Amino acid sequence: MNHDRIGKHILLIGLMGTGKTTVGRILAEELKRPLTDTDEAVERMAKQSIPTLFREEGEAGFRNRETRVLRDVLQYSPRIVTTGGGIVLREENRRLMAQAGWVAALEASAEELYQRLQGDQSRPLLQGDLRRRIVHLKRERESLYDFADVKLDTTGESPQETASRIILQWRRLSRG
Ligand code: S3P
Repeated sequence: MNHDRIGKHILLIGLMGTGKTTVGRILAEELKRPLTDTDEAVERMAKQSIPTLFREEGEAGFRNRETRVLRDVLQYSPRIVTTGGGIVLREENRRLMAQAGWVAALEASAEELYQRLQGDQSRPLLQGDLRRRIVHLKRERESLYDFADVKLDTTGESPQETASRIILQWRRLSRG
């Protein structure tokens, strides 16, 4: 473990539905750190929703904005950074995150993701056959989350339980 990372950002990565945003909110409150969500920051800067951005600029346009936001956010004071599930697709983003902080990857079984994401209209990459989309994205991206410092399976767990486990690991690390 690179101890230089302590005092830097805590970043949450993982597929859609793994609970990054909710867990991030709990972490920010309990660790008394500011919180930035890259999806929210993209929407704020673009003054448009993610579905609209995908429609008008395509996925590539969204990814360009996402990288720009990530670069900016990592310049801020140490904080909790929650990310969109596809942020790991670019090698550049993976490198930036690994350099700038301690990265926790949240995971969940395909069935659990299906249960959590059913009925979701806000995620362009999940439209169509949800089960197939989840299985496809899981297969396609699984290895891209491997650079994380820690991986947590959130299947059957509440966001509070996941956040508590992250805090435990983080404090253990901070004590050296
Ligand atoms: C995406 C995940 C979404 C959002 C966009 C694309 C992805 O974020 O960035 O819809 O490619 O996995 P969440 O993981 O927060 O849902």
